[in-house]
Amino acid sequence: MFLEKYMMKKKSPRAVAAQIILEVLDQGKSLSTLIPEAHHQLEPKDLPLVQEVTFGICRVLPRLESIIKQLVEKPLKGKIRLVHCLLLVGLYQLLYMRVPAHAAVDEVVNATKTLKLDSFRALTNGVLRRFLREQEQILAVVDKHWQTLHPEWFVNKIKKAYPHWREIVEANNQRPPMWVRANVQHIQPKDYVALLGELANQRENPPACVPDCAILLENPVSVNQLPHFEQGWATVQDAHAQWSAELLDAQNGETILDACAAPGGKTTHILEKAPQAVVFALDIEENRLKRVRENLMRLNQAATVICGDASQPDTWLEKGVMFDRILLDAPCSATGVIRRHPDIKWLRKEADITELANLQAKILEALWARLKPNGILLYATCSILPEENSLQIQRFLENHSDAEAVEMDFHGEKVTEKQFFPQPNGGDGFFYAKLKKAG
Ligand SMILES: C[S@@+](CC[C@H](N)C(=O)[O-])C[C@H]1O[C@@H](n2cnc3c(N)ncnc32)[C@H](O)[C@@H]1O
Repeated sequence: MFLEKYMMKKKSPRAVAAQIILEVLDQGKSLSTLIPEAHHQLEPKDLPLVQEVTFGICRVLPRLESIIKQLVEKPLKGKIRLVHCLLLVGLYQLLYMRVPAHAAVDEVVNATKTLKLDSFRALTNGVLRRFLREQEQILAVVDKHWQTLHPEWFVNKIKKAYPHWREIVEANNQRPPMWVRANVQHIQPKDYVALLGELANQRENPPACVPDCAILLENPVSVNQLPHFEQGWATVQDAHAQWSAELLDAQNGETILDACAAPGGKTTHILEKAPQAVVFALDIEENRLKRVRENLMRLNQAATVICGDASQPDTWLEKGVMFDRILLDAPCSATGVIRRHPDIKWLRKEADITELANLQAKILEALWARLKPNGILLYATCSILPEENSLQIQRFLENHSDAEAVEMDFHGEKVTEKQFFPQPNGGDGFFYAKLKKAG
């Protein structure tokens, strides 16, 4: 079976990219599932192209759609939606990638054969070449008004919540920076910066809201280029996400639950800071827990890894077991990490938000019962929507007289809840609230 996959004839990367886009837009599948699945169809050298094109299309989709509207009279729907997706691939290449235009068009036109869409060869060729000829006039119309490049429901929600909503939208449309965390069991952050040399960004004033362990890279690199990565000296993790373990402040000897742990970025950080803590790493998805085990192994750490539902602790935890601290990095809309996962804009629907907020409330309720008196629960999401964050916590505090919001210190900014927004050259959108249970 493995050999069969390996020996399979490799496909045109443009054809693979068009298929992936079709599955994102029409079947609601995520890029982080589809791209690893597509590896066996591609020559390894073609993978970066497929990544660039598919992520890029999701980032700027409405702009490309407006262009297609001007070029194609009848929408390419139903069985020929794939032709539409191939046009998205072609236009993205022409507008956003440094590839010779005519060669790019030829490659996209040839991909019709791989996709068994030979009869659309002429149409694909005609549309893309017309775009090349009339680009200036077409773009003058398309770019006349600023486009948010986000779904309307989402823009309406953030408009209501934040006066600086335009800044958020602009930040979401940019490419994210890469951050790493030095493992203090091996090396101090400033010494790891020295080891990184030119890979590290040596700006004098890092953003104020970044924890001390976070290191910004000048340009994203493969993890193999990070010194001693395999020996566990560093982990790739967004700067604002790195506050989780800082704020949880687990101590050696304490019993800690990382409730939604996969792929384990925060579990490993907790153990870097408190190697003798007794850590339980829980997640509902067994296949995502593989990553937790791999990360623990790479960092030479020990935790009890459990597959289970955080909203039903009685199904995976013995009666009477209670935790000193709980990190609830709750399942959420991920609207704070759109720049890393631009497909979220098209996968997430407005109705999902209420459903997610209900699930978060259910998990909070269930885990609170398993927190010791005087224990700490850190609630975190990578969302920027109030329903999942401040309103969620406000409601919880109203309904739990034994819960108190604890002040958190972000380099001198002392608050009981913190909403981060995505920052160019800074961290992602993230929310934190720290709750203490009465003694
Ligand atoms: C934001 S991610 C966690 C990221 C992780 N904390 C890290 O830093 O690497 C949310 C996780 O919640 C898990 N999840 C969703 N619903 C859950 C539930 N009811 N119980 C436990 N885990 C759940 C998902 O499988 C996903 O891995």
